[in-house]
Amino acid sequence: MRKWLFAAAAAAIFIAPAAVSAQAPIVIKFSHVVAPNTPKGKGADKFKELAEKYTNGKVKVEVYPNSTLYKDKEELEALQLGAVQMLAPSNSKFGPMGVKEFEVFDLPYILPNKAALRKVTGGPLGKRLLGLLDSKGMIGLAYWDNGFKQMSANKPLHVPADYKGLKFRIQSSKVLEAQFRLLGAIPQSMAFSEVYQALQTGVVDGQENTWSNIYTQKMFEVQKYIMETNHGYIGYVVVVNKKFWEDLPADIRGQLEKAMQEATAYGNDIAEKENIEAMEAIKKSGRSTIVVATDAENAAMRKAVEPIYDDMAKRVGKATIDEFVKEAAGATN
Ligand code: LMR
Repeated sequence: MRKWLFAAAAAAIFIAPAAVSAQAPIVIKFSHVVAPNTPKGKGADKFKELAEKYTNGKVKVEVYPNSTLYKDKEELEALQLGAVQMLAPSNSKFGPMGVKEFEVFDLPYILPNKAALRKVTGGPLGKRLLGLLDSKGMIGLAYWDNGFKQMSANKPLHVPADYKGLKFRIQSSKVLEAQFRLLGAIPQSMAFSEVYQALQTGVVDGQENTWSNIYTQKMFEVQKYIMETNHGYIGYVVVVNKKFWEDLPADIRGQLEKAMQEATAYGNDIAEKENIEAMEAIKKSGRSTIVVATDAENAAMRKAVEPIYDDMAKRVGKATIDEFVKEAAGATN
């Protein structure tokens, strides 16, 4: 029996490589930190479906949601090392890697509406920013939407004075850090996967995020109030490992580009609806009170954070900020 097993194993060693190489698909590990039922989660699943279809199974996409493989910072390192091939981190997460220009998306109130976002990401600035990722060993393939951010805490936050002394979880962005400091709050950078517990245990008092993230991570269960402020935006860049992408056979890369284009259109189409539905589900749950900021409250918030544009000009680049504002101007929803 033992001898037979050995012989079978030895035979497998000789037979397997040829058999495997004839059919082994190219594997794309796509890691992300949010739930599958979010704009990014659904976009990633759509990309998997289309990539496998258009390549006729020559490419297999393995999607790992909810930080199951890596947390925010680790996943970017894993991409650079080639341990995963594809990610869609939020714009805010490229700063610590040295691509600080992406933090322009974090400037409060920089986007008057969604149409302005499309103008920027689809225009020369959007293209230039993606190009900056090359030097980090990655290629930016597409911009994916999530939506506008809301503030949450265990007390209602109407005016800047209400933020004073509260600890807020932020993504790893210097612009977001400055935003909360201008409000008199204490920002604390933390991985997305740790936010729920940090809110539950009181490590932080509040956070800012989109409706879909607040809902799918159950943050609304551990925050008494959510303020509908729409003060900032969360969106993503889909990135691939540069070497992996450039080494792909040209026909496969073309098929994957087509899959990415269609998955992008699909995800960006459903993002707004996903966020509205998440907001309605939170409202229905009765676990958290939604407070809609008045015009006067919004104006007070804007005024309080306004100095951020000058304070951050050096980090993000004044030319980048000006170009963003110029390209966004004039877009109407
Ligand atoms: C966050 O860290 O709050 C978000 O960037 C998570 C995400 O990917 O939407």
